[in-house]
Amino acid sequence: MSANRSVVNVGVIGCGHWGPNHVRVFSEQDRSHVVACADLKLAHLDRIKQRFPGVHTTNDYKEILADNSIDAVIIATPTKTHAAIAREAILAGKHVLVEKPLCPSADEAEALGRLADAHERVLMVGHVFVFNAGIIELRNRIIAKELGKIHYFDAVRTNLGPIRGDVNALYDLGTHDITIFNYLMNEEPVAVSATGRCITQADIEDVCFATLHYADGTLGHIHVSWLNPRKVRTLTVIGDNKMAHWDDVDPNDMLRLYDKGVQEPPYYDSFGEFNYLLRNADVQLPAIHRTEPLISQATAFLDWITTGQQQGPGAKEGAAVARVLEAATLSMANGGAKCPISHTPGRVGPVVSAPMDAVAARTWVRGTEADTTTCTTMPAPTHYVSE
Ligand SMILES: NC(=O)c1ccc[n+]([C@@H]2O[C@H](COP(=O)([O-])OP(=O)(O)OC[C@H]3O[C@@H](n4cnc5c(N)ncnc54)[C@H](O)[C@@H]3O)[C@@H](O)[C@H]2O)c1
Repeated sequence: MSANRSVVNVGVIGCGHWGPNHVRVFSEQDRSHVVACADLKLAHLDRIKQRFPGVHTTNDYKEILADNSIDAVIIATPTKTHAAIAREAILAGKHVLVEKPLCPSADEAEALGRLADAHERVLMVGHVFVFNAGIIELRNRIIAKELGKIHYFDAVRTNLGPIRGDVNALYDLGTHDITIFNYLMNEEPVAVSATGRCITQADIEDVCFATLHYADGTLGHIHVSWLNPRKVRTLTVIGDNKMAHWDDVDPNDMLRLYDKGVQEPPYYDSFGEFNYLLRNADVQLPAIHRTEPLISQATAFLDWITTGQQQGPGAKEGAAVARVLEAATLSMANGGAKCPISHTPGRVGPVVSAPMDAVAARTWVRGTEADTTTCTTMPAPTHYVSE
């Protein structure tokens, strides 16, 4: 971006199902202008022309890379093309926002990160759920220790389609849940076990079940499928103090916090008298100010470009996801064996950089004291129920 311009000129590469959402979001921002879109399919470009008449269209993305008036590109092509196009874009001097997953290989993701650093370009990855208001609220509550120690996560992400031809359901859908778990745990898992079944295509799993193992014993279970009659986007979190349930398709109550749990009785004489006490108290519905995550993601990308300070997930977070996917692929090939996730020394640790909190604080209305008072609470019938 030249010093005398405050607007970031954007090109969008890949205008199939998802790319047009980026065209819309960056067109609506005051600080960005969508100059051009590229896609191999004429019909997809025609659709862009109809919706955004001022946007130049081309079937050759290299035309966008060669345009010196364009500062940044969004890559929304199939996963297997991400790394090559991102590399070319960085070398052409563009800032890059790549859709998830950044690329199938962790080494490739890290190499892209080094390339972007060397050329002082932004390389952001579209881990859009770290910009989801419900997930951010959940993370704040976990950081505040409201849920206590986290025992396990259980995520379900199913629907009928869209069926991918280049990656399996874990790479496509599970990427979101791996991202969410890492974001909530603020670390990477140390091992993964996974199984899947190829139903509609010979070598591509339509349904996958994966369990991520974190160093402290926390488990993260993922069920993803594009061969399922119901659209489900849920996450259940079990802590030793509280439990939570996030439902991204619930229009009213995206996040529920359950004051439920189990505790040992204070005193018992013999094993025969031993009974765990079940705590079955209130359900809280935090008031969450919903914003469109894709807009928040675009804002973070533009902030990162203009400030030079990291404002969202980059190559490091993309590589962390790829490491899990690589180990899960190995696990699937070995009948679901628990496969360690290889970390180069020094790479394990917080996967979300500090500026992310600053972005969250600015972009979303978070749980303030005032919000807490507007929470709806539903009293449970009994406070303490013994089994
Ligand atoms: N963040 C999210 O929630 C979300 C949702 C859906 C998809 N995605 C991601 O977005 C990406 C695209 O997904 P989609 O559903 O739009 O797929 P899609 O297949 O519908 O669209 C991909 C488009 O890229 C075009 N394309 C392929 N190679 C190209 C090239 N060399 N130059 C220009 N165009 C090219 C194709 O013609 C197609 O129109 C994937 O990485 C996917 O994982 C993210």
